[in-house]
Order: sequence, then structure tokens, then C-alpha cells
Amino acid sequence: PKNLPLTGKKVVVTAGPTRERIDPVRYISNFSSGKMGYSMAEAAASLGAETILISGPVSLDKPAGVKIVDVESAAEMFEAVRAEYHDATIVIKSAAVADYRPAEIHTQKIKKSDDDDSVIELARTTDILQTLGEWKEDQVLVGFAAETENVIENGKGKLQRKNLDYIIVNDVTDPGGGFGSDTNVVTLISKNGTYHPYSSMPKKELATVLLQEIVQEEGLDTNN
Ligand code: PMT
Repeated sequence: PKNLPLTGKKVVVTAGPTRERIDPVRYISNFSSGKMGYSMAEAAASLGAETILISGPVSLDKPAGVKIVDVESAAEMFEAVRAEYHDATIVIKSAAVADYRPAEIHTQKIKKSDDDDSVIELARTTDILQTLGEWKEDQVLVGFAAETENVIENGKGKLQRKNLDYIIVNDVTDPGGGFGSDTNVVTLISKNGTYHPYSSMPKKELATVLLQEIVQEEGLDTNN
């Protein structure tokens, strides 16, 4: 039916931060609340999609009608996304994945030493989105870009470099949006060059607007 354009289609969404363990009591993470990703998943479900939400640690209520896969680290998120990728119609990477993890996870709690300074060695995590771009068959691949400067240029660079179909760029210094906020300010850019700036609006509303735009540009609203 036209009003439920994603019926029979699988949409995979990632949300929230990842946690990269340092030792049994400490980790590296970021301020993502998961609100943007959970809103994207709710929007997908409300458009009829079989929706898989791969979630880092957040304290949000589980959305109805969505299958949740809970993960902690970037490595676990990568495994979960990989398992769902092949037959997905749309994949939306809203998660704020850590770019680095501690090179070594200490098995015991690290003790204070007599030195005033201490160093944690870091190693790169897998860039999940980049890898999905390399593996892409006919999935519609949607990335987010969290930027603090040269927002549009940096976003377009990620769109091309990661072989994406769309990138949703947010200036995370904008007071109308970003990490933790109930609202967001984004620009949706497609690989075909279409460009849609949206002013600040609730993430829940914005998610539906973004997904409807993508569905329309992909012709998914006329195919069934
Ligand atoms: O969760 P909220 O509090 O609601 O905040 C929403 C948000 C600001 C986190 C969200 O709107 C957002 O921008 N998410 C992407 C954050 C991010 O990690 O952006 P990035 O520019 O560092 O990464 C670009 C893209 O690559 C993202 O789609 C990210 O999921 C992906 N990535 C990054 C690193 C990595 N190792 N693997 C990835 O897949």
C-alpha cells in the first residue's frame, strides 16, 4: 500500500554510542543518547518495514514493533550489522561508533601509579560504514556525519569516500540539535547531488521526514 511503502522490506538501523573497555570498570565512549537512531527505527517501522535496531548502551524505552539487538563495543556492532546486511533494503548508520579502542583491555582494574601521568594506547576500530560501502550490493546505504567545522564539505567527503547513497550531516555544535538533544538540525545529501537542509525539529518528526524523502528518491513508494 502506498501509505506503508516499506512493507515487506528490511531496514537496519544502528543507534547510540559504543563503549570500548579499558579495564573491568572503565571505558571510552561519547555523548550519543541514541535518540536519533531510535527515532529512525520508529519511523522505519511506522512505514511498514521489518526493522532491526542495533543499539549501543542507551537508556531509552524499546520502540514497539522493532527487533532490538543490544551491543556494547564497535566490534560487536560490526558483527551484528554484518549479520543483517545482506538482505537489507535500507541501512541507516546513526550510531556514534568509537573510532579508537584501547589497544589492550586490562583484565584487572588499573591501579593508580606514582607517576602523575599515564597513557592509554589506542588502536583503530573497524570503520563499519566504510566496510558496508565496500560490500554494497543493492542496499541503500545511509550514513550520518557528526561535524563541528566545514560541515557540508566534510559530509560530502564521507558520502563519496564511503560509497554511500545518502549522508545526513549534522553540525553537532548547533544549539538546535546534536548529541543528547530532543531536536536536530541536519542536511540530507544524496550521491545524485540532491540537497535538503532542514531547520531544527524534534528527532522523531525529522526521522520520518528524512526516511520519506529517501523512500521517494529511491522510488520505493511506487514499487509495490
Ligand atoms: O544519539 P543522539 O544523542 O540522538 O545524537 C545523534 C547523533 C549526533 C549521534 C547522530 O545524529 C549522528 O550524527 N550520528 C553519527 C555520529 C558519528 O559517529 O559520526 P561520524 O562522522 O564520526 O561517522 C560517520 C559515519 O560513519 C556514521 O554513520 C557512523 O555511524 C559511521 N562509523 C563511524 C566510525 C566507525 N568506526 N564505524 C562507523 O560505521
